[in-house]
Amino acid sequence: MRTIQAPEPGGPEALQIVETDRPVPGPGEVLVRVVASGVNRADVLQREGHYPPPPGFPDILGLEAAGVVEELGEGVSDWQPGQECLVLLAAAGYSEYVTAPAGQLVPPPPGMDLVDAAGILEVAATVVSNMDLVHLSPGEVFLVHGGAGGIGSFAIQYAKALGCTVLTTAGSAEKLDYCRTLGADHALDYHEDWVAAVKEATDGHGVDVILDIMGAKYLPQNVRALAKDGRQVTIGMQGGRKGELDMGILLNKRASIHATSLRGRPVAQKAAICARVAEVVWPMLADGRIQPLHTERVPFGDVRRAHEMISAPGHRGKIVLVMD
Ligand SMILES: NC(=O)c1ccc[n+]([C@@H]2O[C@H](COP(=O)([O-])OP(=O)(O)OC[C@H]3O[C@@H](n4cnc5c(N)ncnc54)[C@H](OP(=O)(O)O)[C@@H]3O)[C@@H](O)[C@H]2O)c1
Repeated sequence: MRTIQAPEPGGPEALQIVETDRPVPGPGEVLVRVVASGVNRADVLQREGHYPPPPGFPDILGLEAAGVVEELGEGVSDWQPGQECLVLLAAAGYSEYVTAPAGQLVPPPPGMDLVDAAGILEVAATVVSNMDLVHLSPGEVFLVHGGAGGIGSFAIQYAKALGCTVLTTAGSAEKLDYCRTLGADHALDYHEDWVAAVKEATDGHGVDVILDIMGAKYLPQNVRALAKDGRQVTIGMQGGRKGELDMGILLNKRASIHATSLRGRPVAQKAAICARVAEVVWPMLADGRIQPLHTERVPFGDVRRAHEMISAPGHRGKIVLVMD
């Protein structure tokens, strides 16, 4: 079967189609025939050599896929061959076939096109699990950085659906407009003093919850932007790993900072998160509280172009690789 790997780290040209054996589902696992694979920023990091798969997983890129159940491993009774599914993965989504523990499969959102759905599970699982962690609640003020990206465009809509006031940052007028169409109450240009803009937009209150993808670069600003009892959860380090933290500000605000990664979580945690996404998010998609993400389709063989697109200035929403 065809898979996509980056045998040597590098730019999009490092990506190659590599033939491997079709995987065999072990006990408790399901073999899925992939129809489409979601492209995530993490795949770019893996391609560049900064984010290898957890030990024991193949060097094949891809954290999510949509497809059809092909074969069941021993002991799996809640899926049947031929059923459509989405699958959350630690690796190997960019493949014609992939195996995963049965709990990491969910039915696609009702009424949603299977190819478009290939880009929803990773972002939904990330956002929902982190918002649960910090108990984002109706009426709170929420800020997500990078509102036009995959995580951001889902997080804006999810927080709005929960009944929050939503602030976000983006880097161009077009993207700021796009964030507003997704429901952001205040879309702030990150080239400007966005902390001052946060304070102004919230009448000095600040932000109750920040979903941060920038890491070190925004640590001082995020802490200043937090409200009393505020919570920050960092999921990306696009602005570096090591920053300086003024514990005094944190202490006086009774604020907290968390950091999580979905990829390396144990199977049981991933299964619980997948179930929660299907329970909470699928109804929001069905009744329109969350719109399907803007999704660009790229043929599987054009994966290099897909990786150029995710890093291009015009990128918004999600890209999916469609199996030919
Ligand atoms: N820890 C986890 O479990 C987990 C899971 C999923 C994703 N992530 C992380 O979440 C991040 C987003 O992933 P994605 O797949 O959604 O990527 P993406 O679609 O490529 O989005 C990246 C976003 O970063 C924004 N950005 C760049 N520079 C910025 C700055 N200085 N200030 C604010 N925003 C800035 C971009 O905004 P503009 O386009 O407007 O410049 C873009 O919207 C990545 O860092 C990824 O590794 C973590």
